[in-house]
Amino acid sequence: MHVQVGIVGAGPAGLVLSQLLHRAGIESVIVESRSRAYCEGRIRAGVLEHGSVNLLNAAGLGERMMREGLVHRGIYLRFGGRSHHVDFTELTGKSIMVYGQHEVVKDAIAARLAAGGTILFEASDVSIERFDTAQPSIRFRDAGGNAQRLACDFIAGCDGFHGVCRPSVPAGVLTFYDRVYPFAWLGILADVPPVCEELIYSNSERGFALFSQRSPTVQRYYLQCTPDEDLGEWPDERIWHELQARLAGEDAPHLIEGVITQKGVTAMRSFVTEPMQFGRLFLAGDAAHIVPPTGAKGMNLALADVVALAHGLERYYRDHSMATLDVYSASVLGRVWKAERFSWWMTSMLHKFDDQNPFDRKLQLAELDYITSSHAGAQSLAENYVGFAMT
Ligand code: FAD
Ligand code: DHB
Repeated sequence: MHVQVGIVGAGPAGLVLSQLLHRAGIESVIVESRSRAYCEGRIRAGVLEHGSVNLLNAAGLGERMMREGLVHRGIYLRFGGRSHHVDFTELTGKSIMVYGQHEVVKDAIAARLAAGGTILFEASDVSIERFDTAQPSIRFRDAGGNAQRLACDFIAGCDGFHGVCRPSVPAGVLTFYDRVYPFAWLGILADVPPVCEELIYSNSERGFALFSQRSPTVQRYYLQCTPDEDLGEWPDERIWHELQARLAGEDAPHLIEGVITQKGVTAMRSFVTEPMQFGRLFLAGDAAHIVPPTGAKGMNLALADVVALAHGLERYYRDHSMATLDVYSASVLGRVWKAERFSWWMTSMLHKFDDQNPFDRKLQLAELDYITSSHAGAQSLAENYVGFAMT
C-alpha cells in the first residue's frame, strides 16, 4: 500500500487534516487504534473558537454544526458569590460555538467515508519507520490481525499525547516543556436543561466549577478534584451537591438536577514539544502539545496545526517545494505558546491551590476583579478566548 500522506490517529487533528488534503487533491490514509464507535463516543472538548468554526465550514464539515451548535457571545466569570459577564462579541466582534468534539469527529468521519476516504480503525501494533528518509512508512496489524505496511511520502503524527509518533523520534532531537497541575477535572454529562444561557467559570472557596452545555437538553459540567480521584466516591447526589455549593451566592442561577449519563476524570498538564517535526514526520495537536482544559484551547490548537500542515503539503505537491513544510513547526509554535500562556493563566486564576496563602488568594480575587471591571482586562481575555486568526 502506498499513499501520499499517512496519518496516525483519527481525532480532530487527523480527521480534519485528511479532509483538508482531500479537498486539495492529496490522498491520505488514517490509521487509528480504536474502533469507529469509540472515537465517535469519546466525550471531550466542547468549545470552538471563531476561526475553528470558519475552518470547519470552509472544509465542508460545518453543516450540522451550524444547525445544532450553540452560538455564545461571551462567558460568565463567577467569584465572591456573583457572576460577571464578559461579552466577547462587544469586545472583539466575534463569538464562539459550543459543539461537542465527538460531534466534530462524527461529522468528519462521515465526510471522509462518503468521499471514499480510508480510515483503518482498530489497528494494533502501530509503529512508524524511516521518516528520516524520503520513504517513510507506517506498520500495523489491521482489524483482522494481518500485518500491513503503509508506504507514504509523509507521516502526520496526529495520535494524541499517548501516541507512538512523538516517542519514535530519536532521543535528543526534541525538547519538552512540561508542567503538571496538582488537581484534575471531574466531568459529567447530564440530561437536564442549562443552568444559564452561557458558560459559567466559577472560582469558589471549595474549588473550581464549570457549567457548560451540549444542547438544550444535555449539559456538561466540571468540578475541580484531585488527580487520583476515585469516581466510586462521587455518587450523583454528591456531584449535584458540590455543583450547587460551587455556584452558591447572591445571584446564584437555578441549577436543575437530573440523570447523570457519563462521568470521567481528566488530568491537567501543560506540555510543548519543540520542534514539532523531524524529517518527514510532522506532529500535530495533542501529539505535540497539551494545555489544561481551562480556556478550551486543545481542540482549537489541533485544528490550527493541521491548517498549517495542509498548506505545507499542498505547496509540496503543487511546487515540489519543501519551503513551507520546513517552517511548519516555527509557524505554529507562536500560537501554541500563546494558548499555553492563556490556559495556564485561566487555570491559575480560577482554581483552588492547596498551597495558596491568604496573600495569593487576595491576588487571585484582584485579578478576577480587574478582568471583569476593566475594558482592557476583559478585552485581553476575550481576544484570547475567541482565538487568533489561523494562518
Ligand atoms: P486526540 O483527540 O487525542 O486524537 C488522537 C487519536 O489518535 C485518537 O483517536 C487515538 O485513539 C489515536 N491513537 C492514539 N495512539 C495511537 C496509535 N498508537 N496508533 C493509532 N492511533 C492512535 N479542547 C478545546 O479546544 N476546547 C475544549 O472545550 C476542550 N475541553 C476539553 C475537556 C476535556 C475533559 C478534555 C479531556 C479535553 C478537552 N480539550 C478541549 C482538549 C481536546 O479534547 C484535545 O486537545 C483534542 O482531542 C486534540 O485532538 P487530537 O486529534 O490532537 O488528539
Ligand atoms: C468545555 C470544556 C472546557 O475545557 C472549557 O474551558 C469550556 C467548555 C466543554 O467541554 O464544554
